[in-house]
Amino acid sequence: MAGSISGSGLEETRRPVNDFSSYTVSIHYDRRLYRQDIAGSIAHARMLARQGIIPAEDAETIVSGLKSVEQEIEAGDFPWEPALEDLHMNIERRLTDLVGPVGGRLHTGRSRNDQIALDMRLYTREAIRETVDGIRGLQRVLVGLAEKHQDLLMPGYTHLQRAQPVLFVHHMLAYFEMLQRDAGRFRDCYRRTDVLPLGSGALAGVPYPTDREFVARELGFGSISANSMDAVSDRDFLLEYQAAASVCMMHLSRFSEEIVIWSSREFDFIRLSDEFTTGSSIMPQKRNPDFAELARGKTGRVYGHLMALLTLMKGLPLTYNRDLQEDKEGFFDSVDTLLTTLQVYQGMLSGVRVNQEQVTRLAGESYMLATDLADYLVGKGVPFREAHGVMRRLCAHCEQEGRDLQELSLAEYQQFSGQFDEGVYEITALASVAARDNPGGTAPNRVAEGLQRAREALEAAANDF
Ligand code: ARG
Repeated sequence: MAGSISGSGLEETRRPVNDFSSYTVSIHYDRRLYRQDIAGSIAHARMLARQGIIPAEDAETIVSGLKSVEQEIEAGDFPWEPALEDLHMNIERRLTDLVGPVGGRLHTGRSRNDQIALDMRLYTREAIRETVDGIRGLQRVLVGLAEKHQDLLMPGYTHLQRAQPVLFVHHMLAYFEMLQRDAGRFRDCYRRTDVLPLGSGALAGVPYPTDREFVARELGFGSISANSMDAVSDRDFLLEYQAAASVCMMHLSRFSEEIVIWSSREFDFIRLSDEFTTGSSIMPQKRNPDFAELARGKTGRVYGHLMALLTLMKGLPLTYNRDLQEDKEGFFDSVDTLLTTLQVYQGMLSGVRVNQEQVTRLAGESYMLATDLADYLVGKGVPFREAHGVMRRLCAHCEQEGRDLQELSLAEYQQFSGQFDEGVYEITALASVAARDNPGGTAPNRVAEGLQRAREALEAAANDF
């Protein structure tokens, strides 16, 4: 997003100063809203002229003045003035410096209260689009990774204990599904963000014959707010974004946990590209998965910002209260954190190398077929509970002898149950996977369907907004 504050020199205002005025200053972070603020002002000025509230020539002067202001900001030579507190006052003052007293007509029928609500909604709309774009990009990488490893078997885990073999694609598509719901949450929150608050005035509406529908069309809003008191003081669209961002970061954090585990020497399932690992300053053998760890760590700050905003809101009476100015920094940080994490993930997963040999070897480990062997006995008419008991004793026996299930002779099998026959040797990891042939299961044909559905979902993403 445009408008980073680093290097502006305005960070200085964060330091304690002798006079307390700096406490109320927000310019060092709200100036990132300058494009939204100017777009809103241009639409407002045009509406004022159309409605005969200000003269048409004045509106033209104001609009061209605002465009000059925008150019100055973009060129980096706008004279930001902390003493003017916020972005609105800075822009209005500069406009008046450039075009004269006519600039003072811009704020007719408007308050900073509906103005900041507008800026935040415009900004959030863009943030949501970029976020969903980032999610789609990552989903594409996941599908690509799945396509590269179509038949790869891997151990599936519960309690981080090897449980049953699954297809690697199935595992990747699990994350695809999580991201699909994340995209859905953001799109859903977009509908409620896409509402024009401007025209609410300070809190009660404005005593001018404004045309809010015109402003909404100019700014591409789907609708206008229904209640001015609500519109100037509600921030639940920011809460929704942050709630969706928290869930999405939680998903990426879980994935990070797997990446950290998988890339350890103990597991050795994947190798991350050099770009996404760092060495240790003293241990030359190390390839630390710092990016995955940081994604996991940064999840905490996104949760924190959600909690901060919920707490900020909980005691506010209607309508605008200055507390609301505190809605921004955490929100911007959540947006930045999520967007960069989605990008890091795209890069990190694009370069990941799967150690197919190791993954396949562990997928074939015979203990993971214990459930299938129990199911096989069920197929011979043994009640499941009994079959489960047989297999538990069999596994304990093998463990004691340090042998694999598959190494047992048929006679040995039959000591545990008379129902065993030659068919027990046909139970392999692939057969186990293939048997899970119901909707949502890991059978190759079901997973192929899942992959196809994922591709279709990505095609449909062209109509996300
Ligand atoms: N800087 C303020 C904010 O972010 C803008 C609105 C100020 N309104 C006011 N009445 N002081 O919320």
